Amino acid sequence: MESAAGAILRSVTTTEGTEQSMGIRHGVVVALDGPSSSGKSTVGAEAARRLRYRFCDTGLLYRAVTWLALERGISPSDLAALVALVPEVQLIADARGRLRRVEASGADVTAEVRGAAVDRAVSDYSKVPELRAALIGRQRAMAGEGGGIIMAGRDIGTVILPDAAVKIYLNASPEVRARRRAAQRRTTDEAQAGQILAELRARDSIDSNRETAPLRTASDAVIIHTDGNGFKETVAAVIRAIRAAEEDTGGR
Ligand code: DC
Repeated sequence: MESAAGAILRSVTTTEGTEQSMGIRHGVVVALDGPSSSGKSTVGAEAARRLRYRFCDTGLLYRAVTWLALERGISPSDLAALVALVPEVQLIADARGRLRRVEASGADVTAEVRGAAVDRAVSDYSKVPELRAALIGRQRAMAGEGGGIIMAGRDIGTVILPDAAVKIYLNASPEVRARRRAAQRRTTDEAQAGQILAELRARDSIDSNRETAPLRTASDAVIIHTDGNGFKETVAAVIRAIRAAEEDTGGR
């Protein structure tokens, strides 16, 4: 159903299905990539709120599979067991259609999957090609549901949605990203902050050097470097890039 103002009255789901009605605007498909703690999830979710777009944080899928694998003692080399975890993972939409929570086996594990144990292990699981392949169809299906969407991840512009109307690459130096991470964890201890930086560099290295779908800047991406930016400035820069793409494509 479409209103005169161009909003789509569509249904969103509490998982990846259908439940409550809400207004999502027609809009473009946005690929938002970048390294850990570059702000993709918070910036992307806020830009989506302001634009009345859907939002999907694909990192949660990899994190939830990793969390389940650690719980059950499944190693990254146990391919069949790993891939079998995929159907147990569901993203959950908030009232605005933003997929930024995750369930594993029916339990909300959003907080758990953001913990240190998953942080340390997730890159080793995410580099497994069979796991990545098992998640491609779901990500594309979510993007194809209609209305504007911002999909955040590592390989969205390069592999998952190569035809996205706009590709944005959010970047920041490892030091700034580590400081943001430490602040999220409310860490003031210097040794712990140093460890966060070391772990972040290690994840960057695995994510960028893996064979399948490594973290790369798509050749046609708008690069937004956020070191000197506040949150609001970065959101504004992301919205500007999306609005420019909406104008180029006539809003679709
Ligand atoms: O964005 P994040 O830090 O929550 O992502 C967690 C991990 O998941 C990251 O180390 C790499 C992986 N990931 C990926 O390989 N591809 C994606 N599209 C999203 C995340």
